[in-house]
Amino acid sequence: MIPVLSKSSVRMRDPKRVEQILTSMRNAGPSTLQVISDFDMTLTRFAYNGKRCPTSHNILDDSKLISEDCKAKLNNLLDTYYPIEIDSTRSVEEKLPLMVEWWTKAHELLVQQKIIKDHLALAVRESEAMLRDGYQQFFDHLHQLSVPLLIFSAGIGDVLEEVIRQAGVFHPNVKVFSNYMDFDESGVLQAFKGELIHIYNKREGALLNTEHFKELQSRCNVLLLGDSLGDLNMADGVMDLQNILKIGYLNDKVDERRQSYLNSYDIVLEKDETMDVPNDILLYITGQ
Ligand code: TMP
Ligand code: MG
Repeated sequence: MIPVLSKSSVRMRDPKRVEQILTSMRNAGPSTLQVISDFDMTLTRFAYNGKRCPTSHNILDDSKLISEDCKAKLNNLLDTYYPIEIDSTRSVEEKLPLMVEWWTKAHELLVQQKIIKDHLALAVRESEAMLRDGYQQFFDHLHQLSVPLLIFSAGIGDVLEEVIRQAGVFHPNVKVFSNYMDFDESGVLQAFKGELIHIYNKREGALLNTEHFKELQSRCNVLLLGDSLGDLNMADGVMDLQNILKIGYLNDKVDERRQSYLNSYDIVLEKDETMDVPNDILLYITGQ
């Protein structure tokens, strides 16, 4: 077993199965691998020095691009809907319409703010967004081996791309599916493009993007990274899937949610702010 899996933050329902999947993936080699990952609170830190780190939405909410009145409204939405997002006593069916309501209201408020495209980079630079410790190795290693990294996010594409760009790791093997802003000819936000992606329709998004997966048809082994149970379906568009290893970051309400995460993720990382486990797993799978 890979030494990092004895780290105290690691929980596994079935370590033997994890070992089997890892061995199969290693035998198949890096040319058969693709990585599919969520962004907010998966590639970015949940907290730093005891303080919550921002999601891509929060980067805007906390920035100078938003009026005080709008900030208060967005914070109210967060206070109302985030507890629902992480409530393990409610079913997905019950939560889904409420999540759509959250995303729709938040996007409407953002559009009213006449955000200027050229101001996004500064908002990201001044934010407290942080990729998880070890991100450089993660992105660089995948790039060196030409392993595609697909980021599937219900956050804001323009903002998260900027986070990755400013960290110097937006390599050509990275592809992002997310909610993108639509700017008018003078560069002012007028709407969001395409179908709304929220935490519970990543499966539909994946199935709409089968063109992308077709390009990667020979990549039948998937390493999936997520932090919400909605992230588990991100690989549903992959054809001829051979092996999938699902790693889930359990950031919040750990005791209440442990069992449901263990039931659905192969490896659960409890309050682990690092990329240590994905990094060592990638080294192992790619034969290093
Ligand atoms: P994701 O990480 O699954 O892509 O989801 C994005 C996260 O963004 C989700 O955990 C909820 C959060 N969020 C905000 O922080 N503010 C918002 O206004 C909205 C709509 C979502
Ligand atoms: Mg997330």
